[in-house]
Amino acid sequence: MTDQYAVIGNPVSHSKSPLIHQAFAEQTQQDISYGAIEAPLDGFKETIQRLVREGYKGCNVTVPFKFEAYQLCNQLTGRARAAQAVNTLLFRDGEILGDNTDGAGLLADIEQNLGRKLLFRKVLLMGAGGAAHGVIWQLFNAGASITVANRNLDKAQKMVAEFAPYGTVSACSYEALAGKQFDVVVNATSSSLSDTLPPLPPGLFAPNALAYDMMYGRQTPFLIFAAQQGATQLADGLGMLVEQAAEAFFKWREVRPDTAPVLARLRA
Ligand code: ATR
Repeated sequence: MTDQYAVIGNPVSHSKSPLIHQAFAEQTQQDISYGAIEAPLDGFKETIQRLVREGYKGCNVTVPFKFEAYQLCNQLTGRARAAQAVNTLLFRDGEILGDNTDGAGLLADIEQNLGRKLLFRKVLLMGAGGAAHGVIWQLFNAGASITVANRNLDKAQKMVAEFAPYGTVSACSYEALAGKQFDVVVNATSSSLSDTLPPLPPGLFAPNALAYDMMYGRQTPFLIFAAQQGATQLADGLGMLVEQAAEAFFKWREVRPDTAPVLARLRA
């Protein structure tokens, strides 16, 4: 029998996840179906309960339900706990297991697709909302030395507090970035959604720096700024999207798909 999966969000019709997972399934010859389900804003839990009843094997969770998904799980992976958000659910023996593959997706894109090892690299992570929470654990685990900048400094300080005893991680305001340089700058703010740019000082990019915007599908003010400021390599979040999907697919099916052809197809 075909195993059923879906992405749950609101809105969800724009999601590329069905396309990506169907491509993975074809490539690895896994007998699955993968759809997109829009849950009512006040009906996430009921939607998940229905999917469990209908025998679904798991689902992906996207905006705005990642925190609700986190609260709903019977079991969580360490990285989901650190993110306080869940983007991948597994339904098994009546239990709801929660994982977060966003950070792994970002790391795979940066280290494998873009060829940048993060060990001992200076990384600036902009933002302290859901998107930033989803990836900090993985960046930290890769051995990067991390600075988190946010307009609301308090939020950034809270976010780094749990990591601070174990490695090089600090929080600062955008003004305090003046005079500092980074090898990798990741935009995890929602500024690109409103076509704005975080208030970045000039001179932020070290020689040969990578500028990474977790947004995809458009030329963002951040990437335009980065190019003007001499960042050598620019990347949008499409690679992260495909890699986080591959990690979820692996959790469900125990088969790791080859992401390169799928990413190439989406770019085309
Ligand atoms: P998401 O889940 O996309 O991270 P969120 O939890 O609402 O959404 O968080 C949005 C993040 O983008 C926050 O870090 C926010 O900064 P503040 O906490 O200081 O508000 C950041 N953000 C949004 N617009 C921004 C802008 N124009 N410049 C800088 N930061 C911005």
